[in-house]
Amino acid sequence: MKNFLKVTLFSLLLIALFSLYSNYGIPEIQPAPPPVEEKLDLGSMTMEQFVAVGEKIINGKGTCMLCHNAVGGRAPLLEKLVTTTPERLQDSRYKGEATDLESYILESMLQPSVYVVAGFGKAGSNDSESPMPNVTGGAIDLSEAEISAVIAYLQDLGGAEVTVEIPTGAPVTDTVQAAPAKAGPLGTAEEIVAGYGCGACHVIAGQTGAVGPDLSAIGASRDSDYLRRAILEPNAEVAEGYPPNLMPTTYGAQLYAQELELLVAYMQASVGGSGESGQVVKPETPADATPQAEADGEALMIQHGCGACHKFSSQVGAIGPDLSGIGALRDSDFLRRAILEPNADISDGYMPNLMPPVYAAQLSAQELDLIVDYLAGLK
Ligand code: HEC
Ligand code: HEC
Ligand code: HEC
Repeated sequence: MKNFLKVTLFSLLLIALFSLYSNYGIPEIQPAPPPVEEKLDLGSMTMEQFVAVGEKIINGKGTCMLCHNAVGGRAPLLEKLVTTTPERLQDSRYKGEATDLESYILESMLQPSVYVVAGFGKAGSNDSESPMPNVTGGAIDLSEAEISAVIAYLQDLGGAEVTVEIPTGAPVTDTVQAAPAKAGPLGTAEEIVAGYGCGACHVIAGQTGAVGPDLSAIGASRDSDYLRRAILEPNAEVAEGYPPNLMPTTYGAQLYAQELELLVAYMQASVGGSGESGQVVKPETPADATPQAEADGEALMIQHGCGACHKFSSQVGAIGPDLSGIGALRDSDFLRRAILEPNADISDGYMPNLMPPVYAAQLSAQELDLIVDYLAGLK
């Protein structure tokens, strides 16, 4: 009876979580789910429930989807594993010890560099080193039970037989992080860093990721415009020594404007020395930030990261309205106000507070004119 109750409660919880997920179907109001700690009773779980736990870890705490997604092409798609694994194991470059899907997934998570899928290695490593972190380390820190749940989910996803067992030797309850639920913007930079997985790749806010640059003293060498752009449009200017496409390009879609500004302010204030990481990075030469003399509205908009949210010219942002024909719909006064006071007049079907209210402070009068003229001409 007790077990039955637990299972029922768990199912109810899952249903609640999944309906939250489906509410997230509308991209313009989709905030990223921050990890929420949740105690799960492994002892009374069915395989179906265990698989569902694996799914939540992949999308949440595991940060797997930051890299393994169709958008960035940064890592192979995990839904193809069932068909690609036999090929990997037969590859003459394969030097690992895996013999089947389960052991291959496990090895990929614990020792990513044992075998690097061709074309996905760290830049300059000739596919000998994987950019993927060991998922038991650093900020990801998956437990054995969590790793088994991930494998169960990946096997199930590909339609293969689930061969892992639900751990019983493990403590009856294990902590699984990864529930989506976010009523509003996160309040501190540390919460944002944790919630969005920045620490999986960066040294920042006490986290020790090593995939991207150390950010513990980033404020000494970069200004806030640069930092904002680095988050909204990671590929606009790629940090020296790193390949493009590694930093997720989804944060523009996920972060609340307030969260973005908090992060930028936090990084701006991180100048090393007494930082909790104790690491002082050699300040890099600041990126060439000369305002282009020949700047036009289009270049200015790209430079200010508008393309993270809007579609126009080469940009494909999808969080805000498509601006590619905006001149036919809106006059210059409207456009000027939309940029200076985004919340004064919210476009139909969009939420307030998504468009950053920062441009009035950032753009010179001349830059604003250039942008408004450019937009008014898009017909
Ligand atoms: C920082 C980016 C990154 C993160 C985070 C990441 N991976 Fe990877 N992963 C990669 C890359 C790049 C490769 C391909 C290179 C290689 O073979 O190691 C890869 C390879 C793999 C492979 C082998 C794929 C194949 O086609 O053979 C598996 C399985 C895998 N990852 C699972 C995971 C899981 C599960 C997680 C989350 C717990 C995860 N990864 C998190 C970047 C990442
Ligand atoms: C999957 C790994 C990954 C994640 C997650 C990630 N980044 Fe990055 N980030 C990188 C890499 C790699 C670079 C260097 C290449 C580039 O500039 O795009 C980078 C570059 C940056 C830079 C520019 C640093 C410089 O010296 O120019 C900033 C700032 C930054 N990231 C902030 C963040 C923040 C804030 C988050 C979380 C909201 C985050 N990153 C999440 C991988 C990541
Ligand atoms: C973080 C996402 C984001 C960024 C970055 C952003 N916008 Fe927006 N923008 C939105 C959203 C969402 C809306 C619709 C809600 C509203 O009206 O505030 C919007 C609305 C607009 C509108 C009004 C469109 C209409 O049809 O009513 C204009 C014009 C505009 N943005 C221009 C810009 C320019 C120029 C920049 C860069 C300087 C920029 N935006 C940067 C998200 C963004």
